[in-house]
Amino acid sequence: MNNVMNKKVFVVILTVWVAWHAMAQNPKAYVPTPENLKARKEFADSKLGIFIHWGIYSMFAQGEWYMTNANIDNKEYAKAASAFYPANFDAKEWVSAIKAAGAKYICFTSRHHDGFSMWDTDQSKYNIVDATPFKRDVIKELADECHWQGIKLHFYYSHIDWTRDDYPAGRTGRGTGKEPQKSNWPAYYAFMNRQLTELLTYYGEIGAIWFDGMWDHDQDSIPFDWQLEEQYALIHRLQPACLVGNNHHQTPVEGEDIQIFERDLPGENKAGLSGQDVSRLPLETCQTMNGMWGYKIIDQNYKSAETLIRYLVSTSGKGANLLLNIGPQPNGELPAAAIDRLRALGEWTSRYGETIYGTVAGDVPAQEWGVTTRKGNRLFVHIFDLGAKELLLPIQSKVKEAFVFDTKQPLKTKRSKEGVTIFFDEVPSGTDYIVELNLRD
Ligand code: GLC
Repeated sequence: MNNVMNKKVFVVILTVWVAWHAMAQNPKAYVPTPENLKARKEFADSKLGIFIHWGIYSMFAQGEWYMTNANIDNKEYAKAASAFYPANFDAKEWVSAIKAAGAKYICFTSRHHDGFSMWDTDQSKYNIVDATPFKRDVIKELADECHWQGIKLHFYYSHIDWTRDDYPAGRTGRGTGKEPQKSNWPAYYAFMNRQLTELLTYYGEIGAIWFDGMWDHDQDSIPFDWQLEEQYALIHRLQPACLVGNNHHQTPVEGEDIQIFERDLPGENKAGLSGQDVSRLPLETCQTMNGMWGYKIIDQNYKSAETLIRYLVSTSGKGANLLLNIGPQPNGELPAAAIDRLRALGEWTSRYGETIYGTVAGDVPAQEWGVTTRKGNRLFVHIFDLGAKELLLPIQSKVKEAFVFDTKQPLKTKRSKEGVTIFFDEVPSGTDYIVELNLRD
């Protein structure tokens, strides 16, 4: 008895010591609130979001990097604002088309690297209400519509600015006519925090803040201090459930709630921006529909509906979300090709969404033939390209039943020491031939 008591006391002392030691080493350790943890779970279940890159850069129709790529003086560039009048912008149309695609959230560029704010900010006149003849707060219209239609709204927010002199330029935005002697990080940092406060105060519940641009200082000889902890804490103070993500191309740091990958699935690095380790946080991969984020008139090279559906399913197969981008036109419309792809996604998600929403990565990692997703005892086998009438899954579970998801037609299976083999009458074909296995364990 005494021995048991002593053991208990020892365990308590040890636990207190470990906690104290951890805190002493990192006094500001981030502890997500229960509402934040709930939001993370909802996020991880949602699988498809639509990214929107829209700003005055759409007028040049050369993508959102045009200003720095073409070394345009920021004062010349800013003149575009006085002609920005997206007459056909209709938040209801956007949100309806996106929701019908099966997307559960929209991530909108509140302020991109060019420094132009797409809402009625009090922190700078360079915004859609004060600097354009349009004078409408598109973020307000979008937020109201998203809340009305019950779809989450996230904000992309650039850490860097190619226009403001106070942002200390890194390796980009060097030819845009900024005056380096006026750089003033404390002033710029305070400006960003005031803007973030506006975004998280006046537009209702915001699902996430999606930072981008930190890589601008990744070649500095002295590491650049972005003061992230304080900024992240501000966000969580204003809206505890708001998820923080950062497209810094590194493993997440303290205070981040999701991990972002750019143009690659977690663990893959074909585009060269994603060598980082995969964390245990909810994952998201952002990808373009054509090759650019912002509207680019000469890029009509849209990925096919089949490619996009398979990409969405493959992302789910990694347990991640796909944040699929659209670059709206300067007149405020979504490009016709994008609307077409949204429609195709909607047709697919309305029939087969059950096999991805609320799932985790399946038991079998991605294969040449396709991927798997899992929800409880249900294992979904997504076959893209098999070219055979049988498929061996290297799993040891017992199969209660196996059938074609679409037709519910039962399929024969056989267990062996190599795994479970599924037998088909015909070679599986189509965009995504889904088999459901109900497992016993
Ligand atoms: C890159 C680009 C940026 C784009 C982002 C989206 O960081 O700099 O223009 O918004 O990727 O993932």
